[in-house]
Amino acid sequence: MAAKLLSTSLLTLLLISLFYSISAATNEDTTTKTMEEFSGYPTDSHHSILSFSLNSFSVESEKLQSQARVIDELSTLSDSPAPAVTRILYSEKDNLARRFIKGIMEQVGLSVREDAVGNIYGRWDGSEKGLPAVATGSHIDAIPFSGKYDGVVGVLGALEAINVLRRSGFQPKRPLEVIMFTSEEPTRFGISCLGSRLLAGSEALVNTLKLAADAQNISFFDAAKSAGYNLSPDDLSKMVLAEGSYAAFVELHIEQGPLLEEEGLSIGIVTAIAAPASIKVEFEGNGGHAGAVLMPNRNDAGLAAAELALAVERHVLESGSIDTVGTVGILELHPGAINSIPSKSHIEIDIRDIDENRRNGVIEKVHKTAINISQNRQVKLSEFKIINQDPPALSDKSVIDSMKFSTEQLNLSHKFMISRAYHDSLFMARISPMGMIFIPCYKGYSHKPEEYASIEDISNGVKVLALTLAKLSLE
Ligand SMILES: *[C@@H]1O[C@H](CO)[C@@H](O)[C@H](O)[C@H]1NC(C)=O
Ligand SMILES: *[C@@H]1O[C@H](CO)[C@@H](O)[C@H](O)[C@H]1NC(C)=O
Ligand SMILES: *[C@@H]1O[C@H](CO)[C@@H](O)[C@H](O)[C@H]1NC(C)=O
Repeated sequence: MAAKLLSTSLLTLLLISLFYSISAATNEDTTTKTMEEFSGYPTDSHHSILSFSLNSFSVESEKLQSQARVIDELSTLSDSPAPAVTRILYSEKDNLARRFIKGIMEQVGLSVREDAVGNIYGRWDGSEKGLPAVATGSHIDAIPFSGKYDGVVGVLGALEAINVLRRSGFQPKRPLEVIMFTSEEPTRFGISCLGSRLLAGSEALVNTLKLAADAQNISFFDAAKSAGYNLSPDDLSKMVLAEGSYAAFVELHIEQGPLLEEEGLSIGIVTAIAAPASIKVEFEGNGGHAGAVLMPNRNDAGLAAAELALAVERHVLESGSIDTVGTVGILELHPGAINSIPSKSHIEIDIRDIDENRRNGVIEKVHKTAINISQNRQVKLSEFKIINQDPPALSDKSVIDSMKFSTEQLNLSHKFMISRAYHDSLFMARISPMGMIFIPCYKGYSHKPEEYASIEDISNGVKVLALTLAKLSLE
């Protein structure tokens, strides 16, 4: 994919410039839509202003093969045998993959820099110096035994989109920047989206990282050092970007769900990213012998947990929105013997939504109910801890419009949808207008070796990304 994938003619270029100059003067409908309206249902509004052809964004099979080869090549930098991919932060394979990406960035003609934790940036300067860049990118780290497309499509695809624009002779006004984020996956230090979280700024995160160690008790700073990133906590604080540092951020990603494939659609335009809150709860009772302690005299910590698990479901359903989801994925009883009344229980709850207040409202209800259960059952609520509570993000209206317009210009079918998994975009949204482009993936599989996206679907995503970046760069 380092080689050029799509050829565009000068004619297209002229058409593109023509289109941009015209569309800039055309004020599109600026109605603000509620999140519900965005919940995966296509709107019927069609404000395509121009009917010009982008036929020369055509795809040649030889270029497609070269794109597939680069994805395959990156997937061999893995600690598990193909087709599984395992690429853990600051491991030898992660380092090799970083070098690989920097190499492609240079081939594409971008100027490459790295920050303290190894977020890698490739920049194409714009014609107007000093304007904030339009950025795109994703990650290339991979959880153990996962696939070769998650994240990768958004990095290699972004570089290919730059290729497409470069070879077409396009000249950006705002700079274009491709970012490879460090450690989107939480595998090594338990912190997801590490690189983008740091850019979005969080002193709490810096403090967490000071104490963070992996399963081998290697500290974050030692691990970074072994990969060539010799940094101090101060360097982390300095990474924080001011809001407005980027004019826009767009991420291309496989859907990781089955909807686009099932509905036979090429492109998902993401309008919101749901965000999780995780909660840890512990109850303590007196335990006792399963035969000897009579029912009226029990303080069963296990039943308290069971009751709370059902209450999570009830409170989630009470929100009335299909976008609110809650899961009790861990429920542990102590001592865990058939003839012993549980004296301790431990449950972990994941609650997600695209509406932060609604999600936090559910958490509050769950907390009240936990207190109530502990009183009714005479057990102690020894812990109710919100482990994390990331705010969801909405895509930016103008970025959505650009993605939609590009999709339509390319005659690709699309729908609006919610990203139910979260991505680096969730954090970039805190400092920049954000949008995401989804492409179909086989049966929605992700985080396993069977993960697959066809090269045609990837190319469609690349084309939509290229046009979207071009449009945003001229705005
Ligand atoms: C999109 O469809 C229109 C109408 O059929 C056609 O004129 C145009 O060339 C197509 N554009 C692309 C990029 O395929
Ligand atoms: C992990 O390393 C830290 C710092 O070197 C040390 O204080 C701690 O005892 C170690 N923990 C284990 C379980 O080895
Ligand atoms: C608390 O428990 C009591 C007794 O079971 C019940 O009547 C009441 O509705 C509960 N309150 C809440 C807020 O769950």
